Parts: sequence; C-alpha cells; structure tokens
Amino acid sequence: MRVAMIGTGYVGLVSGACFADFGHHVTCIDKDASKIEMLREGRIPIFEPGLDELVARNKAAGRLDFDTDLTRAVKEAEAVFIAVGTPSRRGDGHADLSYVFAAAREIANVAEGYTVVVTKSTVPVGTGDEVERVIREARPDADISVVSNPEFLREGAAIEDFKRPDRVVVGTEDPRARAVMSALYRPLSLNNLPLMFTARRTSELIKYAGNAFLAMKITFINEMADLCEQVGANVQDVARGIGLDNRIGPKFLHAGPGYGGSCFPKDTLALTRTAQQAGAPLRIIETVVAVNDVRKLAIARKVEKALNGQVRGKTIAVLGLTFKPNTDDMRESPAISIINALIDKGMQVRAYDPEGMEEAKRLLPASVFYGTGPYEVAEGADCLVIITEWDAFRALDFERLKTIMRQPVLVDLRNIYVPEQMAQLGFAYESVGRPTGAPAESQLTAAE
Ligand code: UDX
Repeated sequence: MRVAMIGTGYVGLVSGACFADFGHHVTCIDKDASKIEMLREGRIPIFEPGLDELVARNKAAGRLDFDTDLTRAVKEAEAVFIAVGTPSRRGDGHADLSYVFAAAREIANVAEGYTVVVTKSTVPVGTGDEVERVIREARPDADISVVSNPEFLREGAAIEDFKRPDRVVVGTEDPRARAVMSALYRPLSLNNLPLMFTARRTSELIKYAGNAFLAMKITFINEMADLCEQVGANVQDVARGIGLDNRIGPKFLHAGPGYGGSCFPKDTLALTRTAQQAGAPLRIIETVVAVNDVRKLAIARKVEKALNGQVRGKTIAVLGLTFKPNTDDMRESPAISIINALIDKGMQVRAYDPEGMEEAKRLLPASVFYGTGPYEVAEGADCLVIITEWDAFRALDFERLKTIMRQPVLVDLRNIYVPEQMAQLGFAYESVGRPTGAPAESQLTAAE
C-alpha cells in the first residue's frame, strides 16, 4: 500500500519507518527542509534506539522516502496520516490543533481517488469531526474518510511498541476505511494482534483515558511513597504487594520524582479542559495534574534533607536530565524543576546525561556545569542526585565516588540502589518512599 505520513516528529518518523518495514511504501513529509535534508542523508533528528537502522534499511529497499511537499505522496496514497504536533496552547492548556487543520486542508486540496485520512496526533474528542468539516469545506467532492488511530508509543521503546502493541485502536464506522486500516495493519494481525474498531470519538478518548489512567497510577504510588516515608513503610514492597493482584498489575508503580515527557503532562491537562467544557469535570485527573506539578518542585527538598539543611554554597552533582532513560527528550523533565530549585536555594549544579545535555543547555540556567561522565561531575560534590535511571548509573563505583566527592551523600530519586547497602558503603542515602538504611526489600519473586 502507499502511505503518506505528514510530520516527521517522533510519532511520524517511528510510525512511517515501521509501516515501511511491514512492506508498505511510505513517504514522510515535513515542512522543515533541514529535517528532510537530514533524513535523506540518513541522519535521524531524534534519539530512539534502533530507528537509524530501521530507516536506513527501508530507505535502501526503496520503501521509505522523504519530501517537503505532500502533493505527490498524497495523490498516490491510500492512507494519509496526520502526525503533526499538538502542543499545549499557551495560557489555557487546550491542545493547539492549528497544525492538524492546516494539514487536513492541504490534503483535501490534492487528494485523488478514495483516500483515508488518519489522525495519529493526539487530539481531543471531536477533532475527527472538525477535520472532516475542514476537508469537506475545502473539497466538497473529495472521496475521503477521516479515521482516528491513536499512537501508544513509549519513547525509548517506540519500535517495539509499534511492532508488538498490546492493541491497535481504530476509530471509524465506515466499512471502506476499515478495510484500508485492516490491510495496513495486516502484518500485525497475523500475530493475533487485537485490532480494535470503534467509533471515532471513542477512539480519540481512549488515547487520553489511557494516558490519564497511567499518570494517575504513577501519582498514586508517588503519594503512597510520601506516606511510606512518614509511617516507616517501604513503597517498593507496597507496589509489589498490590501489583501482584492481577486487577492492579505491577507496571507503572515505580515511585519517583513525578512524571514528565511529551505526553502525560500535556494530555492530562488537555483532558481536564475537555471534561470541564463538556460539563463532566474529571476531578481525579485535575488532582493528578496538581499533585504531579507540586511534586516535581518539592522533591528537591530531599537534597536539603540529605545535607541536613546546610545547602547554601554546596555543590550538587546531578546524574540524568531527560524525563526518562533512552531518550534525549527533556520536555517537562522533573530535572528542570529540581535543578532550578537547587540553584534558587544557593547550590551549584554539575550535571551529566548520556543523551540529553544538548537540549538541557537550552532549558537550564547558564550556571550549570556539564561533565563528560558521572565521576567528572561528582568531583568535589557535596551530594550526588540521581534523577533519571539510565543503565549507566546502575553500577556506580562508590569507593571511587567516596574518594572524589567532598562528602558521601546520595539522593536516589529512582530507587535504583538498596538503602542497607548504601549505609554499609558509608553513604548518607535518601531515596523515595523507603526507610533510610532499611534492609533490602522482601525477597518475593518479582512479577515484572
Ligand atoms: C507515554 C505512554 O506510555 C505512551 O503509551 C504514550 O503514547 C506516550 O506517553 P512516554 O511519555 O514515552 O510514553 O513515557 P513513559 O514510559 O510512559 O513514562 C512517562 C513518565 O512517567 C516518565 O517521566 C517516567 O519516568 C514516569 N514513570 C513511569 C514513573 O515515574 N513511574 C512509573 O512507574 C512509570
């Protein structure tokens, strides 16, 4: 099949490359000429494990190409995906749909023959109806169906998520569009993939409901971690104890500094706005948004606590800046609020991240020093803070750290080390929702 993918951001590029890998012919389109130039030269504008190889392979096979103009690709395509950005609109938190509508208008002007226009961008309920209206206005005679097909790709695991998804949701009630979507995802259906068809508005809501639920799950365990700290319980055991209940499940119960990224913060906020407007406010999600915002700032107090309140003039070494490992994405990363809070309290920050430092330099105060690795930034530091759980930070040499740090203090915001072992190593240790220096958590076999 012929596919046009409009938008070569994260979702567009991963989806385009994966559809090409299924054997379809895909053209990825972006107005940003420098991005298209890069992609044509085989360079990938984002960091996503495996994506460079996937793009190169499909490009070489003649199934994947790139263009700044959508005319040719849309004329030929049976399915045209809209995968442009939907940033939070400044001021009100609503999703900004101007790029989506602009793409719809352009598609309408050039489409030939029956064409399925698929919204992959995360869009509020009812956007499909609007896209359809925009298209009909531009080209009343066009033979076009508008379908919703939300993405559920995690950064860092996006290719795996695309090729082995838990489900694919398709929102359309039109049998012709359904046939095109089934053919597109056929390589997945061969592996018994649950391809779920539903109404367009329902499909749009599924995406938001899924992300809101996951954000709520994380926020639940984060608040539980605060409670654990007050009552002397261990949040990892609480998570395991409830996660073994199949109705709850073990995933997304890792307590930490609060969720960030390009999806959860934006989508939860947009969903609360939609719900308020619809007269059915989602008070749980409103609270999740508020609790998470406060947490990303308040968690910096752990550093103060670890340093017994003596913070002015202290040097803090920060490991991990991106909102999670295996990405270079800094959007809404807790590291931003935490580092700003540390600097406001009079501390100096030395930071290291395997992939995020270029982006961090644009977002963090200019006074931050960037090092080439954990040991360089730890030199002379009064406290080491792990904000993101990159694998490279999971086996640090603490004997070496003790010799280069001014004092052996570790704040572990991802609970990757064991309190008792840190105590044995002579480190003052603060983590999230676990008693300081407590024995290793229970020996139940992990369900994950
Ligand atoms: C998310 C969704 O998982 C994906 O389905 C959706 O389409 C896009 O948004 P992503 O933002 O890439 O994906 O990252 P994810 O792995 O979901 O993590 C989001 C945030 O939650 C990160 O900041 C992460 O550190 C945090 N998190 C996640 C926790 O703090 N604890 C957890 O248990 C899980």
